[in-house]
Amino acid sequence: MSDWQTDPSWTRVFAPATVANVGPGFDCFGFSLGEPGDIVAARPSDRPGVRLLAIEGDGGVLPTEVAANTAGRAALSIWESAPELKPHGLELILAKGLPLCSGLGSSAASAVAGAMAAALVAADLVGLPYDRGRVLKAAIDGEQVASGTRHADNVAPALLGGFTIVRGEEPEQIARFEPVLPLAVAVVAPAYEVPTKAAREALPREVPLADAVANIAAAATLVLALTQGDARLLREALVDRLAEPHRAKLIPGFAAAKQAALDAGAYGCSISGAGPAMFALAPDDTVADAAAVAMARAFAARGIESIRFVTTISSQGARRP
Ligand code: HSE
Repeated sequence: MSDWQTDPSWTRVFAPATVANVGPGFDCFGFSLGEPGDIVAARPSDRPGVRLLAIEGDGGVLPTEVAANTAGRAALSIWESAPELKPHGLELILAKGLPLCSGLGSSAASAVAGAMAAALVAADLVGLPYDRGRVLKAAIDGEQVASGTRHADNVAPALLGGFTIVRGEEPEQIARFEPVLPLAVAVVAPAYEVPTKAAREALPREVPLADAVANIAAAATLVLALTQGDARLLREALVDRLAEPHRAKLIPGFAAAKQAALDAGAYGCSISGAGPAMFALAPDDTVADAAAVAMARAFAARGIESIRFVTTISSQGARRP
């Protein structure tokens, strides 16, 4: 076991996987998953500046240069946000628990964990008040390094937990609630990567009015279904005419996997974030497990391996593990 896991000089923060978009809520909706997630360990050092000492669990593919790494960039943003931190140094270790480029909010989890760990160290070191807005902004800076755009629909639920609706980059521009309907989440991630940048480039710049209207109706219905606990409405709400039709082409096996989840009894199924992972909402673990198995079989029938798991929408966001 590496010493960052046990040595008390390290401040450790876990940030969970997230599902962004959630059907009709492109770039706005997201929810936090119970598992898995990334961990960032941070500790002060005498050498000014932020250094990323090691990355574990990434197969050696993530950039180790601080400003190019999502966790590093987020921590750097915290460090640059207060002049009193300038004479001090920060050391980081990133332990990846999430697969990369899979649509499960991997870059956001690293960014949130990096920002929160740096903010906690800064609070101990120079008494910088822990400020959620500062952490949120820094995490969005980190996310931007990976995806090329500033969007917070993974970052917000990774930080705050629950189901979030993002309107802007300030904490007060994020609505958060916890669904009252009992829900289990099936997640299946086919074993190939779709970079978020590529998935965003697959989207048209303009959309037909009828598609925009359909998504507005579905998004409103989804929130109503989850806040009022209306399972019948939920079955009608996981509809997306903005992103899903264009991104499905990047996910071989998508249509069969979605149909398999619905046939297994899921309320609905769509792409998780930019994909290729897919999620299905189900009334309980048994149905969610059946949906996950059915989706994985649909991919396997096309020669595509996948990982699958069943979890919940977690009320908890980033935290000390
Ligand atoms: N809303 C983003 C997208 C989430 O779908 O591109 C992925 O980062």
